[in-house]
This record gives sequence, C-alpha cells and structure tokens, in this order.
Amino acid sequence: MVRALYPGTFDPVTNGHLDITIRAARLFDEVIVAVYDAPPKQLLFSTEERVALYRAAIAERGLTNVSVISYRGLTVRTAAELGCQVVVRGIRALGDFLYEADMAITNRTLAPEIELVFLMTLLEYSYISSSRVKELAALGEQVEAYVPPAVAAAMAARLGRH
Ligand code: COA
Repeated sequence: MVRALYPGTFDPVTNGHLDITIRAARLFDEVIVAVYDAPPKQLLFSTEERVALYRAAIAERGLTNVSVISYRGLTVRTAAELGCQVVVRGIRALGDFLYEADMAITNRTLAPEIELVFLMTLLEYSYISSSRVKELAALGEQVEAYVPPAVAAAMAARLGRH
C-alpha cells in the first residue's frame, strides 16, 4: 500500500495539476492532494475555496483514490503524519527542475525516509501556471481550456465576469 502526497498552492487547480493527479492516482494506491495554507504569494482564493475547487475537479473526473486536504508547516512533516511514503511534484520545464532539485535536497535532509517522485507534465500543459491563468481571466480571456469547469466559473465570479 503506497500513499502519496501531492502538495502545492493550487490557486487555482489547473488541468496541468489534474493531469499530474490522475497519473499519480494510477501509480499509487492512494493520493492525498495537500493544499498549502499560506504560501508567500498573493492569492485569489482562500484555502477553503482552493480545497473545494480541487475536490470538485476530483469528483468530476471520478477519481476514487484521491482526497484533498489543507495543511500548514513543512510538507514532509505533513506527509509523515499522514503515512505517505512518497511526495509527488510535477515538472514542466528546466526552471521547475532547478527549483525542485533545490527543494528536494532540503526535504531529503529533513525526512530521508520519504521518497520524492517527479512526473513530467504533458507538453500541452507545460506552459500553464496558476498565475498565467489568473492573468488571462483578469484580462477577460476565456480560460476553459486550462482549468476545470468549476474553476473557470469561480474565476469569472471572483473577477466579476459572469
Ligand atoms: N501544471 C500546471 N501548473 C503547474 C504544474 C503543472 N503540472 N506544476 C506546477 N505548476 C505551477 C503552479 O500552479 C505554480 O504556479 P503559480 O506560481 O502561478 O502559483 C507554479 O507552477 C509552481 O509554484 P511553486 O511555488 O513551485 O509550487 P506551489 O506553490 O504549487 O507549491 C509548496 C509549493 C507549497 C509545495 C512548497 O512551497 C512547500 O512545500 N511549502 C511548505 C514549506 C516547506 O516544506 N518548504 C520546503 C522545505 S523548506
């Protein structure tokens, strides 16, 4: 029984994050999506909203071995507390790799028993980020191609574009 934690800010969840989630759900018995409570970023959605939007996306895709929680503090501590042997992260491009490699060394030092697994994001999602999608939505562009339907609706409502 291998349980994996997939941590991130997810402000909001995109189709790229969902792709990583779906593939992790095939690889591992159980996947826990962990929404980080207080990242050093300006957020559009509250922690509760980010969790709810991810849960809606999971339900829409019918993923039965994926759950969504929020957390504070160190990611590897949360993984250990939840009995996760693995932490999954998606990698889009070389920039992500350099950032992740740096963070992985810290995480490895903090919790050597937890394995870090990196999945390459599909090419069609390799240029998506939550910030880019928010920028497009704020400028009135359609974002349905990049995010789940509930997220597109929530962004339109939040940005005043019904
Ligand atoms: N598809 C689409 N977008 C993706 C993606 C994918 N497959 N993979 C990454 N991204 C995007 C994210 O949406 C995010 O976009 P944004 O900056 O516009 O929000 C960006 O790429 C990645 O941001 P990053 O800061 O690397 O990750 P994150 O914010 O999603 O999560 C944490 C970072 C929360 C996992 C990390 O900061 C953490 O573990 N914090 C807890 C404290 C800790 O343990 N620190 C480490 C040891 S000191």
